[in-house]
Amino acid sequence: MSEIAKRLNQCRKPTGDLGKIIVEDMNKSHFNLTSWGLEKINIENDFLVLDIGCGGGKTVNRIAERADKGKVYGMDYSDDCVKWSIDLNINLIKENKVEIFQGTVENIPFEAEKFDLITAVETIYFWPDVKANFSEVRRVLKTGGTFAIINEMYDSEAFRDRNNEFAAIGNMNILSSEELKIVLSEVGFNDIEIDLVEEKNWLRCVCSK
Ligand SMILES: C[S@@+](CC[C@H](N)C(=O)[O-])C[C@H]1O[C@@H](n2cnc3c(N)ncnc32)[C@H](O)[C@@H]1O
Repeated sequence: MSEIAKRLNQCRKPTGDLGKIIVEDMNKSHFNLTSWGLEKINIENDFLVLDIGCGGGKTVNRIAERADKGKVYGMDYSDDCVKWSIDLNINLIKENKVEIFQGTVENIPFEAEKFDLITAVETIYFWPDVKANFSEVRRVLKTGGTFAIINEMYDSEAFRDRNNEFAAIGNMNILSSEELKIVLSEVGFNDIEIDLVEEKNWLRCVCSK
């Protein structure tokens, strides 16, 4: 397997020694992207938040600083990511401000209308069926709640060659902003706002239920 295939495979589901290196790297390398993405989002201090595909747990940690009277849940389908996110957030977990658990976006283990905010950073490319998965996200979001997607890749002319290569090697689904908007509206999200940093190929999308 090529080095790039190994890396994308780990981004899809980080595990083992290589997964740990990649997750620690993502905690740092996604920092600026996530700062830009979170800028747009209102986070009240009593919010209940779910971060899907939490990886190494850095975004959970950052949101928990703002929702310090609420609770932030981090979910990942990789057992190892759950372990590493717990390590990073152990103090907040002891204070009952954070909970990390193993689960998949296909079947989020919560009742309907639970969360004020749901975030997905650098993860939707790997979801098995975005339409069904967005619908599941919408189910557990409160009416009036916010779903935020933060990505460092979207389908665009300027990055098409690189993105097509990643999509083929990593079996990733890299949507354009128009495609994303269509799927979100088809499952019933409203107020869909998408911002792009075209020269970096970054996308942030905020929508509501
Ligand atoms: C590229 S990493 C991003 C991690 C983290 N959000 C960040 O920004 O550093 C993608 C993460 O999504 C998780 N993931 C992928 N598909 C998932 C699914 N169906 N359900 C839950 N987590 C998933 C992976 O295990 C991985 O931790």
